[in-house]
Amino acid sequence: MITDDLFENDEELNQIRLGEGTLLIRHFINEYTAEIITEIETITKQAPFRKMLTPNGHKMSVGMTNCGNVGWVTDLKGYHYSQQDPITQRHWPNMPSLFRELAVQAAGLAGYPNFQPDGCLINRYLIGSKLSLHQDKDEKNLNAPIVSFSLGIPATFQWGGLKRTDQTEKLVLSHGDVLVWGGVDRLRFHGVLPIKSNNHPLLGEQRINITFRQLS
Ligand code: SIN
Ligand code: FE2
Repeated sequence: MITDDLFENDEELNQIRLGEGTLLIRHFINEYTAEIITEIETITKQAPFRKMLTPNGHKMSVGMTNCGNVGWVTDLKGYHYSQQDPITQRHWPNMPSLFRELAVQAAGLAGYPNFQPDGCLINRYLIGSKLSLHQDKDEKNLNAPIVSFSLGIPATFQWGGLKRTDQTEKLVLSHGDVLVWGGVDRLRFHGVLPIKSNNHPLLGEQRINITFRQLS
């Protein structure tokens, strides 16, 4: 049927292979963004965004919090995962089932059918916030991919290679986009350039990024 073909082509057009192990799925979470934002509001009432210190004493410009069993934290002692929020000493808020379901679906599309996220880092970028080039390598299980949701104003994402000095590709991540990387691309360097002034109807002058991680 013509309509089915069109639908399939549409879906394929939104899926962009950026590497053997990397898939960008544009608009994947578009219809859930309002619900996701409500969940983030609930999470951040219990575990507010905070600017953490890097091991060398710099305060990050990105506000961070977590949900799920384990959360990523950084302090003067280093980067690590913790079951407790260091501010409240309480367990991080639960990962909403909607988050888990969408992340698992996106991972499946990208070629990772067994993804079981147990941690979820939530980053808030205000105008000017940035995230320097880094690898996500604090997870025990490097076989599982990273799944990233973008919400709010757009960001220029830097997609590098396995060495810090490798050339980076720049791509714009917009509200509703999902990026999945794993396999041979799992340890590629990546970062976010300073967020440019902008305004989004649902989130105003901010970008929120959620990354799902599997530690076990
Ligand atoms: C991250 O690398 O943890 C976040 C990436 C992003 O904000 O797009
Ligand atoms: Fe990262």
